[in-house]
Amino acid sequence: MSVPSPLSGLKIGIIGAGNMGQALARGLAEKSVYPQNLSVFDIHSEKLQALKKECRIKPAKSARQCVSLSDVVILAVKPHLLEEVIREMAGAVEKDALVISVAAGVTLARIESFFKKPVPLVRVMPNMPALLGAGMSAFSLGRRASAKHRKIAEAILGGLGEKVEVPERMLDLVTAVSGSGPAYFFLLAEKLIEAAYQMGMKAAVAKKLVYQTAFGSGKVMTSSDEDPDVLIGRVVSKGGTTEAALRVFQKEGLGKVVQNAVKAAYKRSKEISEGA
Ligand SMILES: NC(=O)c1ccc[n+]([C@@H]2O[C@H](COP(=O)([O-])OP(=O)(O)OC[C@H]3O[C@@H](n4cnc5c(N)ncnc54)[C@H](OP(=O)(O)O)[C@@H]3O)[C@@H](O)[C@H]2O)c1
Repeated sequence: MSVPSPLSGLKIGIIGAGNMGQALARGLAEKSVYPQNLSVFDIHSEKLQALKKECRIKPAKSARQCVSLSDVVILAVKPHLLEEVIREMAGAVEKDALVISVAAGVTLARIESFFKKPVPLVRVMPNMPALLGAGMSAFSLGRRASAKHRKIAEAILGGLGEKVEVPERMLDLVTAVSGSGPAYFFLLAEKLIEAAYQMGMKAAVAKKLVYQTAFGSGKVMTSSDEDPDVLIGRVVSKGGTTEAALRVFQKEGLGKVVQNAVKAAYKRSKEISEGA
């Protein structure tokens, strides 16, 4: 007998149909949330129409209409708009509806203060590959969120990729690691392409080699439980080419550079969450 999805029969409202809102709507549509149960509001009606065409969501005329009767309200607007959006719709949110915020850097306590009443809350830090369903989301439960809310949040975030629960105080470090992390990998790709180009390779060929190498390496890491040093060991041979390159990375202090970069991102994330 199949276990019913925690989402079955739930009415879900999404405010903001930008990158994240669209990714969430697509993920939910793929999870067989009945389209009539999925309502979305954005100030750009053309985004809603495109999303309606693609995943048959119900476009809402206002934030209030979107969240009224919703069992779950997902806030996917930019962080600086969160307070205004919550003030506008708070009165229409069903009693005990679960509120999920993906806004970077806005703490559970601040979101609660915008509602001016206790609400079951989940705060999420997703990352950019969520747009392709390959994201990494970390989430924290608010004081009023229950085990049932956790299951709902996990099912929703499953549509964006992988998910993990962390205490809220960890979210700044999550931001510095997986939130900003895609850009670190893109930077390494850029540097590898530049190095190949400078040594005489056509840029288009270098890009193809690097992108597919990144894709393949990512696939190996995500389909294995082994630590990176074991995987490195599968590529290196004694006295070979990889060993020569790794020795340079070590000598030039790549480890220290990465550590300092993550510290800088962490510090900035804390400043942003504290309103600096
Ligand atoms: N994109 C990422 O990779 C990423 C990663 C981690 C976390 N996040 C978080 O996800 C949230 C959404 O980011 P995003 O990249 O999806 O932003 P986005 O693409 O700008 O989407 C937000 C959408 O909401 C619309 N909007 C503005 N005010 C509104 C209102 N009052 N009611 C309804 N819709 C309104 C925006 O219109 P306008 O464009 O006209 O303002 C836009 O269409 C942010 O809080 C961000 O911190 C995003």
